[in-house]
Amino acid sequence: MAKTLWTIALLVAVTATLPAQNRHGRFRPKAPDDNPISAKKVELGRFLFESPLLSRNRKIACATCHDPAAAFADGLPESRGIFETEVGRNSPTLWGVGLHPGFLGELPNPPRDSRARAKRAPILSLEERCLTPIENPIEMGNSISQVIRTLKAVDGLRQRFDEAFGKRGAGINGDRIGKAIAAFLRTAEVPDAPYRSFVEGNADALKDAELRGLQVFRTRGKCAKCHTGDYLSDGRIHRVTSLDGFRAQQGNRKQRGRLRELAAKRADQVKRDRGGRCDPLTPDKPKKGQSIVDVLAKRRQERPGQYGMGGISIQARGVQTPTLWDIANTAPYFRDGSVDDLETCVRQHIAELQVAGRPQSAGCGVTTTANPALAQIPRRLHPTYRSVTAIPKPRELNEDEMSDLLAFLGSLSVRR
Ligand code: HEC
Ligand code: HEC
Repeated sequence: MAKTLWTIALLVAVTATLPAQNRHGRFRPKAPDDNPISAKKVELGRFLFESPLLSRNRKIACATCHDPAAAFADGLPESRGIFETEVGRNSPTLWGVGLHPGFLGELPNPPRDSRARAKRAPILSLEERCLTPIENPIEMGNSISQVIRTLKAVDGLRQRFDEAFGKRGAGINGDRIGKAIAAFLRTAEVPDAPYRSFVEGNADALKDAELRGLQVFRTRGKCAKCHTGDYLSDGRIHRVTSLDGFRAQQGNRKQRGRLRELAAKRADQVKRDRGGRCDPLTPDKPKKGQSIVDVLAKRRQERPGQYGMGGISIQARGVQTPTLWDIANTAPYFRDGSVDDLETCVRQHIAELQVAGRPQSAGCGVTTTANPALAQIPRRLHPTYRSVTAIPKPRELNEDEMSDLLAFLGSLSVRR
């Protein structure tokens, strides 16, 4: 009896923000008015998601890095994009991505004025976010106009676009490509995990240890301060690691060796790719005779461990809180893919959160931790992002609490 009451109290607590009648539909993402979901559109979106024709060398599909059969991730510490370039980040799962609170865009030419910069911080829609990898020079290295040309040459595809979008005769365009992929991804709902069933009202879905773990997650662990809402993310940027933290240093050692190896491996390829075909499309345009790979390698060499995708600093920007759905099946962990198992990840994360400094303003709407090293980061590298006012610090957890917490994280995942 006591357990039942407690379970119901917890259930009420986690669903309190929502009217009861919405409970069952809450994990079904809402489609925007200008992009309603239809079977034909979803099918077209799936085709595009799995098609290597979207990349410049026609070898990389979205599904290369977000494999639907591998929890929409790729299992690699760092994903590999066009020409085998490591993108400096671990590809996240896309389960439930239709519930994502808002994607942070990259601003190619941020205005000089700090207030104007803060205002222009772009939050992308899923439709827009689905187009950015195509033009990212180290992911798919293509341009939208080139993709349209390529797709127009595929038999019957124009017609499929028109059918999916209601035969308006507009054929293939960038807007429709983004919309179709987004429609497909909205069908990749949060997995059918025990915790989903619990939140949907099935009070028996969680085992005792998982229930206790949920309590740790919400209280002593402070996890739900950031991993909150249906997507288990507040959508905010947090500096959860310090610039001189152990993760960055691990990155240093790993990356230095790897850079040398890569430089040799790529030398031939880069030579072949020159001649305009793989010119990058970013503001980081290399000088004559240089490729994006050279630019990236140089930056990484200068400040190893700090540069990721497009040579953009990782720690300088903090990290947007990721979802935790299906977390047991999405190793390796962290944006840098530096940790292989969930327990190590959680222990290290807690340790890092506990040492993360108190935030202070770094100007231009950005809050940094009180780490002197952060002050040295050029402003242009952290132009737009806002951080939360303070980093919630988890309490010290004893071993029982830790094992309950891990059990709860397991309940966010499909049981295998
Ligand atoms: C080379 C590997 C690679 C390819 C190809 C790729 N992605 Fe990604 N994707 C990533 C990585 C790495 C991230 C994380 C980026 C970050 O943390 O800023 C990501 C992030 C995303 C996100 C945001 C997820 C989140 O939780 O913020 C979406 C949506 C997405 N990708 C969709 C796509 C689509 C659609 C395509 C194809 C058009 C695609 N990706 C192609 C590696 C890839
Ligand atoms: C200050 C906000 C914050 C708090 C509090 C917080 N997290 Fe996180 N969490 C993050 C951010 C940001 C990341 C991404 C870090 C990275 O990739 O480097 C993350 C990453 C993770 C990851 C790895 C996700 C992945 O796919 O790689 C797990 C697991 C996780 N958190 C669990 C927890 C647990 C359990 C707690 C409570 C003990 C917790 N978090 C508390 C913000 C937070």
